[in-house]
Amino acid sequence: MSVNKEIKKITTNTLQKMKANGEKISMITAYDFSFARIFDTAGIDVILVGDSASNVMAGNETTVPMTIEHMIYHAQCVVKGIDRCLVVVDMPFGYYQSNSDIALASAIRIMKETGGHAIKLEGGEEVIDSVKRIVSAGIPVMGHLGLTPQSIYKFGTYNVRAKEQAEADKLRNDAKLLQEAGCFAVVLEKIPAHLAKEVSESLEIPTIGIGAGKYCDGQVLVMHDMLGINTEFKPRFLRQYLNMHEQVTGAVQQYISDVKQKDFPSDAESY
Ligand code: KIV
Repeated sequence: MSVNKEIKKITTNTLQKMKANGEKISMITAYDFSFARIFDTAGIDVILVGDSASNVMAGNETTVPMTIEHMIYHAQCVVKGIDRCLVVVDMPFGYYQSNSDIALASAIRIMKETGGHAIKLEGGEEVIDSVKRIVSAGIPVMGHLGLTPQSIYKFGTYNVRAKEQAEADKLRNDAKLLQEAGCFAVVLEKIPAHLAKEVSESLEIPTIGIGAGKYCDGQVLVMHDMLGINTEFKPRFLRQYLNMHEQVTGAVQQYISDVKQKDFPSDAESY
């Protein structure tokens, strides 16, 4: 299915209707103005200003070092580039886990200073009070279950989550709690496809999968992975649509050669 040009602005209600109509939701990460503009013009439904910025923009190993100031900066840049899509901004580690007062203050700050449309946070039962208070303040919240990268030091690995009964049961329960608390959608990261299917069918709100199979109501990928800017990260769930690393390397090598050969600039490229 191609882009629905009838939709002038994607809202959380639009996503709800998409689920009801069986139209899959497309989501991609972005961290700057220029890519946000390309993705929005291409017709993406949702841009996630992910705290994966920590990995792909800042070069950190985990998302843990990200601050609220970093997230606000990236979100401000993205928001300037979009007209149509919904912009969701990740709450960084340490700005919502300790108590719901801090969580609410962080969410309000992100909304006020960025112009983003919603926030995302990781976790289930542990963060339910925060989710409820943020939703009560009128801020749309996207949940995130399964592999939650901010907890990497608890998990120890980036392997598939919820393969065991106990963890799968917790995830089912967390998904229900997030829906009851007022989340408008929930990301399911790196869990078995059959579990994602069951959760997607049991919820009224849309699920957005990453490494969670084809039965989710939408899919999200990190832009650097799907465009092939990264070369090292090739998990099974990733479909790479471009090899930007190779293409950019070739272009820059050509430019270097043109400069060295005194081929650039030409007379036509001079004043
Ligand atoms: O930060 C991020 O990019 C994310 C996606 C992987 C869902 O949370």
